[in-house]
Amino acid sequence: MTKFTWYGHATHGIETDDYKLLIDPFFTDNPAASTTADAVTADFILVSHGHGDHVGDTIALAERTGATVISNFEIANWFSAQGVEKVHPQHIGGGFHHPFGYLKFTQALHGSALPDGSYGGNPAGFLLTTKDNKKIYMAQDTGLFGDMQLIGDEGIDLAIIPIGDNFTMGPADALKAVKFLRPKAVIPIHYNTWDLIAQNPISWADEVQAETAAKVIVLKAGESYEF
Ligand code: NI
Ligand code: MN
Repeated sequence: MTKFTWYGHATHGIETDDYKLLIDPFFTDNPAASTTADAVTADFILVSHGHGDHVGDTIALAERTGATVISNFEIANWFSAQGVEKVHPQHIGGGFHHPFGYLKFTQALHGSALPDGSYGGNPAGFLLTTKDNKKIYMAQDTGLFGDMQLIGDEGIDLAIIPIGDNFTMGPADALKAVKFLRPKAVIPIHYNTWDLIAQNPISWADEVQAETAAKVIVLKAGESYEF
């Protein structure tokens, strides 16, 4: 059993049978957050890129929980310099067998400057294959790219993609992304956090379900999907 929880914006939890993961844990100052950084825990924290709405509460969470922070080489070094004790650097195209499964970094078309202006390398998405062989693709912040078709060839059980527009794909490109990725299920993220990325996920879901075989799951912040 794998449990995916959306905490609002691009912040997720994934629970496998043995491990808890947090992805881009942005709780403090996140107007869409369903809970607080103090109320969650993690064994591993994944950070997709350097922007503040993704680095979020990582440093405080790592300190309190002792979680290992997984990010690109530049951001992992930056976290080390901030006092995070356990980091695991990876980079785009590279996968590693972690205790919770095989995690591969995928490309993302976006920026990655860190909150203090430090260079944050290139932004990434995540392709996770769990121990029970479920494939979860988390695009995180990105524009549409044609190589999503290659990611789709992996056989995606659950895709997490942004629909907010302005900073990432909007609804029309996100529909194209679903066609490229061919996931069994898809959950939209990175919308309605601020007015700038206001979208209607229900009308997007209707359109995707009319044009693809994917099941669209529109979660409210704090809700989970188990599969
Ligand atoms: Ni970003
Ligand atoms: Mn973002």
